Amino acid sequence: MHELFEKTLVLIKPDGLQRGLIGEIISRLEKRGLLLVAAKLIRIDKNFAEEHYKTHMNKPFFKGLVKYITSAPVMAMVWEGENSITAARQTAGATNPLEALPGTIRHDLALLSSRNLIHASDSSDTAEKEIALWFSQNEILSWETSNHLWIYGKN
Ligand code: CMP
Repeated sequence: MHELFEKTLVLIKPDGLQRGLIGEIISRLEKRGLLLVAAKLIRIDKNFAEEHYKTHMNKPFFKGLVKYITSAPVMAMVWEGENSITAARQTAGATNPLEALPGTIRHDLALLSSRNLIHASDSSDTAEKEIALWFSQNEILSWETSNHLWIYGKN
């Protein structure tokens, strides 16, 4: 893997599945040039959700957040690419959809922070921990597409 390449965890949350937006969200990340290296549909339980969101344990919205993320299946994915952590968060948009830039998933497809469709790891440290929580090593593939150089060619 290229030295600048990173892996990041992206979740399509229950609202994304209920609203039929899996394809739309995956399409935006694919078109950006990121590479899908792991994916699964999974219904997580309360303990798992509390572990994933433990940094928000003391937030007033924590209980509701856990209820939301466990209310239906989520689509968990690992996306790889140069600066993929920053790129995926940029494509997701700001946490509050009303503050997200036009063209981002949250701006274009959502209205509230409490139903903001997507999660993307916020740093390399978090990405590493979140990927290890959601995926085992053998679920993460190492591959590249034939148009790789049309995304990463440097002049
Ligand atoms: P996410 O990127 O998954 O990280 C933490 C989540 O908490 C966030 O997206 C939202 O789904 C949720 N969240 C953040 N702020 C609020 C809020 N003010 N009210 C409800 N949920 C929130």
